[in-house]
Amino acid sequence: MEFYEVIEKRRTIRDFKNEEIPQDVITRIISAAFKAPTNDHMRDWHYIVINDKDVVLKLLDIIPKGISDEDMEKLLKDWNLNDNEQQEAYKNAVPKQYRMLFDASCVVIPLLKQKVDILKPDNVSHLNGFASIWCSIENIFLASTAEGYACNLRVPLGDEADYARKVLNFPDDYFMPCFIGIGRPKDDISPIKQKDINVKERIHYNKW
Ligand SMILES: Cc1cc2nc3c(=O)[nH]c(=O)nc-3n(C[C@H](O)[C@H](O)[C@H](O)COP(=O)(O)O)c2cc1C
Repeated sequence: MEFYEVIEKRRTIRDFKNEEIPQDVITRIISAAFKAPTNDHMRDWHYIVINDKDVVLKLLDIIPKGISDEDMEKLLKDWNLNDNEQQEAYKNAVPKQYRMLFDASCVVIPLLKQKVDILKPDNVSHLNGFASIWCSIENIFLASTAEGYACNLRVPLGDEADYARKVLNFPDDYFMPCFIGIGRPKDDISPIKQKDINVKERIHYNKW
């Protein structure tokens, strides 16, 4: 697939077919993750790929299985989500947080070595390791797209990351930025429309 086609095709997909993903495809996708730029040249990253449904079931046990209309309205209000398209995106996404990972062909947990406390940075460069793993996550999304698969992600809330550490047994000095679900998109879905951006209005040459 041509590069800009991959960029256009990469969309967050939360509805998957029931399909296994071959191990050589996973290897190529994770290899792409390791090609992402890195702040300290070390790429001290690990990726736990979970394709055993019993482990997936245990890992996701802590994630809410849905949301009532009332709680959805409260969430939109509490999180200050006022834009109509943004509200539609959340109304589509929030109820699917469990299913989108459970139905994925595999769940991937990226891990980065925590050298500073990411949650209490003294300055912006303390976040460099965190920023770098997100570059690798985008490579996973793009590589999956190029392979004909698609991804979604969930940033862990509350105790979800601590719980994942217990279930998956990853070391204390590794930090989990998100859950990633990878799978083959269902045929009959159309992803939520991306916001229209007038790119020319967002580019500033030489000064704002
Ligand atoms: C930092 C970050 C955090 C996100 N957190 C979540 C999440 O917790 N749950 C979810 O379903 N999607 C999450 N997403 C996916 C966004 O909802 C999605 O990228 C956005 O709606 C745009 O849609 P698109 O990816 O199809 O362009 C996250 C994306 C990013 C970059």
